[in-house]
Amino acid sequence: MNVPKKVRLVEVGPRDGLQNEKQPISVADKVRLVDDLTAAGLGYVEVGSFVSPKWVPQMAGSAEVFAQIQRKAGVTYAALAPNLKGFEAAVESGVKEVAVFAAASESFSQKNINCSIAESLERFVPVMEAAKAHGISVRGYVSCVLGCPYDGDVPAEQVAAVAAELYAMGCYEVSLGDTIGTGTAGATRHLINVVGTRVPRDKLAGHFHDTFGQAVANIHASLLEGIAVFDSSVAGLGGCPYAKGATGNVATEDVLYLLNGMGIETGIDMGKLVDAGQRICAVLGKENGSRVARAILAKRG
Ligand code: HMG
Ligand code: MG
Repeated sequence: MNVPKKVRLVEVGPRDGLQNEKQPISVADKVRLVDDLTAAGLGYVEVGSFVSPKWVPQMAGSAEVFAQIQRKAGVTYAALAPNLKGFEAAVESGVKEVAVFAAASESFSQKNINCSIAESLERFVPVMEAAKAHGISVRGYVSCVLGCPYDGDVPAEQVAAVAAELYAMGCYEVSLGDTIGTGTAGATRHLINVVGTRVPRDKLAGHFHDTFGQAVANIHASLLEGIAVFDSSVAGLGGCPYAKGATGNVATEDVLYLLNGMGIETGIDMGKLVDAGQRICAVLGKENGSRVARAILAKRG
């Protein structure tokens, strides 16, 4: 398998990164983050979620954020939609791409979206139909692909079955989520080989949380398996409210450093990206979670 020459990064910081924050974050700060990211050259930003505000209060202002961002031509601005109600709210906000999210483990499905895996897939059918009618693209997520915080090990075949269903119902791409960041490079390659028998590799993406510090290694392993789309979060922000202790996604800066070193094209400006991460970290009063960003900032002095 050839390593891809180009990689598409899906920036999930404004959604996956901020959803777990307990402190209020203003709409203006969220809008600034999205605009800073697109200014740095990110071509795909997950801006927010149209989920129940009782479940994820931080995403309640997503409609306002969508109303105020400066939409750049050629950039995809996406949102999570767990059901038809969320999809309709997304459409009202002018969203052109949504993501539905399922899990490969039953317990996580119940904790995250209050239904079984089978029920969640049934719930997505009307979303897919409505999306088709509105000309809206749908991305699919599978969570807990390399382990579940409640059920432990998750067989790769179980992940493949859920990914195949999402693909068959019309998701143009399926992102494989290592929600708790326990995966290792060997397990990642095994997972891709198993899921790759059911969904073409060029329709798969990797979504690695960095809880155990393995995300960059897992991305490298995925590149060797021909995967060319990765989700990442500027400054390594985030976590999932329903996966206690899980840290943020792999930092976008760390992935970019890996890809730049391998001569893989992304179109992203590292300096502007680091600035975007620093600005939101200052808003949150947090240390930057990207080791690459910290090293670059130390060099700048
Ligand atoms: P439920 O309580 O079973 O829903 O929640 P329900 O249909 O019974 O409705 C209950 C109430 O919620 C009703 O309001 C609905 O109107 C409202 P009430 O009558 O009580 O006032 N409601 C909504 N409100 C706004 N937007 C909606 C919506 N739907 C219903 N779309 C539900 C089910 C799916 C809604 C809930 O469990 C939920 O919102 N879950 C979201 C959880 C979430 O966002 N988790 C984080 C994102 S996933 C993630 O981080 C993983 C990922 O990064 C990949 C990885 O790392 O693995 C993607
Ligand atoms: Mg995630």
